[in-house]
Amino acid sequence: MADIARKKVVLGVTGGIAAYKAADLVRELLRNGIEVQVVMTEAARGLVAPATFQALSGKPVFTDMWDARAADNMAHIELSRGKDAIVVAPATAGFIAKLANGLADDLLSSLCLARECPLILAPAMNRQMWDNPATRRNIDQLLRDGAAILGPASGDQACGEVGMGRMLEAREIAEAVTTFLAPKSLRGARVLITAGPTFEAIDAVRGITNQSSGKMGYAAARAALEAGARVILISGPTSLAAPAGVQRVDVVSARDMFNAVKKHVVNADIFISVAAVADYHVVNPSRQKIKKTASRLKLDLAPNPDILAWVASRPRPPFCVGFAAESEHLHRYAEAKRRSKKLPLLAANLAPQAIGSDDNELTLFDDQGAHKLPRALKEVIARQLVAHIAKLYGTKKTRKL
Ligand code: C5P
Repeated sequence: MADIARKKVVLGVTGGIAAYKAADLVRELLRNGIEVQVVMTEAARGLVAPATFQALSGKPVFTDMWDARAADNMAHIELSRGKDAIVVAPATAGFIAKLANGLADDLLSSLCLARECPLILAPAMNRQMWDNPATRRNIDQLLRDGAAILGPASGDQACGEVGMGRMLEAREIAEAVTTFLAPKSLRGARVLITAGPTFEAIDAVRGITNQSSGKMGYAAARAALEAGARVILISGPTSLAAPAGVQRVDVVSARDMFNAVKKHVVNADIFISVAAVADYHVVNPSRQKIKKTASRLKLDLAPNPDILAWVASRPRPPFCVGFAAESEHLHRYAEAKRRSKKLPLLAANLAPQAIGSDDNELTLFDDQGAHKLPRALKEVIARQLVAHIAKLYGTKKTRKL
């Protein structure tokens, strides 16, 4: 399991309308393997009931400075000890002003002042409050003091106005927090990833493709980014959004993907080939839509280049990671594939179960043997995969020296 699974945060909820989004944020953080202790201000309790957060986080919610449930009645110190960050979402203009001035008149502001861990704020307020010079000063001060500020975004506001001040969506905050907390095991490494299916045209509107959703490749891109890598994602046609910070290159056919890989692999330290690349393409696809007739139609198919095998056989290849979907004899076929393509690491899963689903189960094959990653969300599996890659890649670099 990647280290991220052991991360713990205090989630501070202050009294802004966006407090309702904090309930979703608890779920997103938990989904990313981060433990959440919710602390609410008195004003926030007027907007969302603590029971909601208690049920979602599985932990009692704190508001009072002198809550007898905290050890030595020192909730303002005790609750942030052993935590990896305090995340305040939503952070209202008033709460931001308090923090900027070191005021500690309730549990959450006292926790922030007494903390030993990083502080991450997701502001939420009316656009005029955000633009007010006092808020600008306070935000500048907090940035100088080392706080991380996420957002806000621009858009419709609860007050009916439109402008800057909207809290980021729960998923965006959770992603940023997860990235912030992830061990930087690939710091500075340049990672090239292929993902998704390819599409091989038959005529102007039809083609041959497969059921790959791209979820595993996109999760690998996110995990590599979280680990501090610079990531280029070469993607076949999918409906997924690339994580912010990843350079995405869109391709359609296997040969397009090959050209894009050739261009970008020159600067890559690590190549993760997750794409389900079509093995064949149609020779001379029709420019026009083929008309239906009563007679049989034959397609002339020619093999596509094996992109991964080409990369792995370059004179000084990047660290190459292959994927294999097998419907039987997983161990035998996967290890044979790893050897024939000369890969230091191959991740194998069972098809068709893995295709398109949100979770996955991988077995990693390397020189040391097989390592099973039990079924989990693809995001979680991807982090474990990246942790394994980082370990092997680190050893390889050390050996080279
Ligand atoms: O040989 P097989 O297609 O099962 O190998 C799967 C691995 O090879 C995957 O990592 C896939 O991305 C890669 N591959 C490729 N180019 C192809 C076919 C597969 O890069 N034409």
